[in-house]
Amino acid sequence: VYERLHPAGPPVSAAQMLAEARLGEGAPEGRPYLFANFVTTVDGRATLGGNTRGLGGPADLEMLLELRGVADAVLVGSGTVRVEGYGRLVNDADRRARRAAAGLAPDPAAVVISRGLDLPWDAGLFAAPDQPVIVYTGSAAGAPEVAAPVEIVRLADCTAVAALTDLRRRGVRALLCEGGPRLFRALLGDGLVDELFLTLAPLLTADPGERGLLPGPSLPEPAKLTLTWALSAGPELFLRYVVANAADRIASTSE
Ligand SMILES: NC(=O)c1ccc[n+]([C@@H]2O[C@H](COP(=O)([O-])OP(=O)(O)OC[C@H]3O[C@@H](n4cnc5c(N)ncnc54)[C@H](OP(=O)(O)O)[C@@H]3O)[C@@H](O)[C@H]2O)c1
Repeated sequence: VYERLHPAGPPVSAAQMLAEARLGEGAPEGRPYLFANFVTTVDGRATLGGNTRGLGGPADLEMLLELRGVADAVLVGSGTVRVEGYGRLVNDADRRARRAAAGLAPDPAAVVISRGLDLPWDAGLFAAPDQPVIVYTGSAAGAPEVAAPVEIVRLADCTAVAALTDLRRRGVRALLCEGGPRLFRALLGDGLVDELFLTLAPLLTADPGERGLLPGPSLPEPAKLTLTWALSAGPELFLRYVVANAADRIASTSE
């Protein structure tokens, strides 16, 4: 249960808040509606000891799983798959049943964009036989046999825009991006991020060795955020922001 700080209201579940958010309805013509989810320290570090395990508590995990619950597909960076491993995205049968009842596929596709196809093929994501995976790549390299049903989509110009255009053609309207920071920076630079769900973990590390939420280069101008809601659960804050003028951001600033 999450306390509603802004706008104020009675306590609520993540499932209820996200069902009411109807994220897919905001999808423009040519791409899905893209909402990113991160957990960071209060000083903006997206890792602790090189990964996310020590950052988020149970309420953060619950929010992440419920975000997956409303997504048609889940975009995740290859660096994140390498570190976090992953597995079947919606592992809980009740959650899959709720998705099916809402008219969604029981398992959202996992989506990876990898220009070089240098992927951690031994990661849990590729070992899950029930987890559909779509890999967009600009490489002609082969891919090994893995347990997960993986579709390799070769793009002449392997950009996030091209991948998102193809996803929309496949009917993906609500696209959750779980990072990591480098992919997020590129998507933001390309004007493709509509919302940011940010969990603030009650920590400060000032550790320059940990990855920040947005590794450089700097944005040409600050991306303006509008706070849609603020929730709390125990010591964690859950902030939902709309990213202004996503479509206008300059493509040339991406990595
Ligand atoms: N706190 C959180 O919520 C959170 C969330 C996720 C991850 N993390 C942490 O972040 C770390 C991993 O993140 P990361 O930033 O290193 O990697 P990442 O963003 O997960 O993945 C980066 C990879 O994405 C691919 N990519 C595709 N298109 C790209 C583009 N336009 N620009 C840049 N990259 C593009 C690149 O592979 P190709 O060169 O093959 O294209 C690149 O190597 C891990 O330590 C993980 O634990 C934290």
